[in-house]
Amino acid sequence: MPVRTISTQPYADQKPGTSGLRKRVAHFQQPHYLENFVQAIFDSLEPARRNTLLLGGDGRYFNDEAIQTILRLAVGNGFRRILVGQHGYLSTPAASLLIRRYQLDGGIILSASHNPGGPDGDFGVKFNTHSGGPAPEKVTARIHQRASSLTQYRIAEMEPVPLQDCHSWQVADSRIEVIDSVQDYADLMQELFDFELIRQRFAEGQLHIAYDAMHAITGPYAREIFVNRLGAAQASLLNAAPKPDFGEAHPDPNLAHARQLQAIMNQSSGAPDLGAASDGDGDRNMILGQGFFVTPSDSLAVLAANAQQVPGYREGIVGVARSMPTSRAVDRVAAQLGVACYETPTGWKFFGNLLDDGRITFCGEESFGTGSAHIREKDGLWAVLFWLNLLAVRRESVAEIVMAHWREYGRDYYTRHDYENLDSRIAEQLVADLQAQLTSLPGRNINGFVITSADNFCYKDPVDGSLSEHQGLRIIFGEQARIVVRLSGTGTEGATLRLYVEQYEPPEGELIEPTERFLQPLLAVSETLLPICHKTGRVGPDVIT
Ligand code: G1P
Ligand code: ZN
Repeated sequence: MPVRTISTQPYADQKPGTSGLRKRVAHFQQPHYLENFVQAIFDSLEPARRNTLLLGGDGRYFNDEAIQTILRLAVGNGFRRILVGQHGYLSTPAASLLIRRYQLDGGIILSASHNPGGPDGDFGVKFNTHSGGPAPEKVTARIHQRASSLTQYRIAEMEPVPLQDCHSWQVADSRIEVIDSVQDYADLMQELFDFELIRQRFAEGQLHIAYDAMHAITGPYAREIFVNRLGAAQASLLNAAPKPDFGEAHPDPNLAHARQLQAIMNQSSGAPDLGAASDGDGDRNMILGQGFFVTPSDSLAVLAANAQQVPGYREGIVGVARSMPTSRAVDRVAAQLGVACYETPTGWKFFGNLLDDGRITFCGEESFGTGSAHIREKDGLWAVLFWLNLLAVRRESVAEIVMAHWREYGRDYYTRHDYENLDSRIAEQLVADLQAQLTSLPGRNINGFVITSADNFCYKDPVDGSLSEHQGLRIIFGEQARIVVRLSGTGTEGATLRLYVEQYEPPEGELIEPTERFLQPLLAVSETLLPICHKTGRVGPDVIT
């Protein structure tokens, strides 16, 4: 079987962002574009780590074609063993698990996460290292550098590999194995959570779930876990067949996009006990109770506080981590438990070292990402199963569990406002203007909110000492409140500005104000400091989560 060396031109724009390289589908379809980036990934690996590879994606448009191209590149580059998910499917958490379980050198995951798919949608390529986690910045920097100087790639001339059934295939020196995408992952979930108890509660009709796979990758996983293993009704699953265009919807599990699920959970009677959804590649989660939304920041705090209620974490937790814009709710739990709490920049890759070094058990981000040391990615279904397990053990509603949590720790009211597709120059100028004022802010009192510190977040990784600077502006009002602003690193068009606003109410407070109302005064303070609407001409955010 011939291997051909093809000339390509370097691409300067192949710079991985918060989570891999993400572009419009048409951008990826340019001649040699995908090949160039994948060859750059391979070239940036140490020779000893260029033998075994995992490959799969979230099933979005262009997944099939990209998988076949990458298989030809992997064979052309002499990988000995290549594992591919059946139908080309792998959720991001399952991919992380399989890399670890089969001790592979790394994996390529095809996904643009929660971004829309289809011919006019987005596509993405992520590389995860042998730890199972997203490549750290030093690796992505190497890939970018290589991609912008590459002049040729090596590709095998071979027929497309059929991916419908699990089988093995020897091509030249490479063994290609098409593997079940679901079973290993479902087995791990069964080890971590009390499937017996949940199954029993379902059987008694005491527990009901509605799970929305949003036409994306988690459908097959949810069917195996909730229906086949736990005995939930088929009708518990919504949109569970993966579609290349995600049913022309936005596979993002939040209140702006998971409307169908929200309507089910807001019914005045007969709503299920738990409503949950995941995103395109299955690493995000949204948790709803009856007429009740759990913020991802609160969810992380509740899981940390209740860890010992589920089998996988009976021994307790060693520490927690949250991304900087995530609310400080989990910090309060960590303080009470007497365990470490780390604050990292946005992006799951920053949790990798802390997990590998055994410093944390749980971690999470406000952007609907929650996870633990069981793998090296955030894990949507894991979070849903955790809540299901909690509901089964505590026999209380989601709202009761969260209310009890607030009564113990107080409540961090939280909102994130996204301004999408802004003119990049205007967005950058806005941030730069606030940046320029930072040093003069401490001590300033704006409508009763006193600024205690202000900075551009810089993270020093406690494990390898690496520095990540300029990770977002923080305006801190002591324990009372925080305002954070940063520019998105995952968008594919213009600039997206994210404003994160949070305010604490101690346990003695009312605790049940509507979030936007409670945060109104602080949002006004924010507009004084960072006049987004004034400078962009927008009347409000595009998305509120
Ligand atoms: C967004 C989220 C971030 C998450 C990332 C990948 O990144 O805010 O928390 O890790 O997607 O899912 P951003 O667009 O803000 O850079
Ligand atoms: Zn995702």
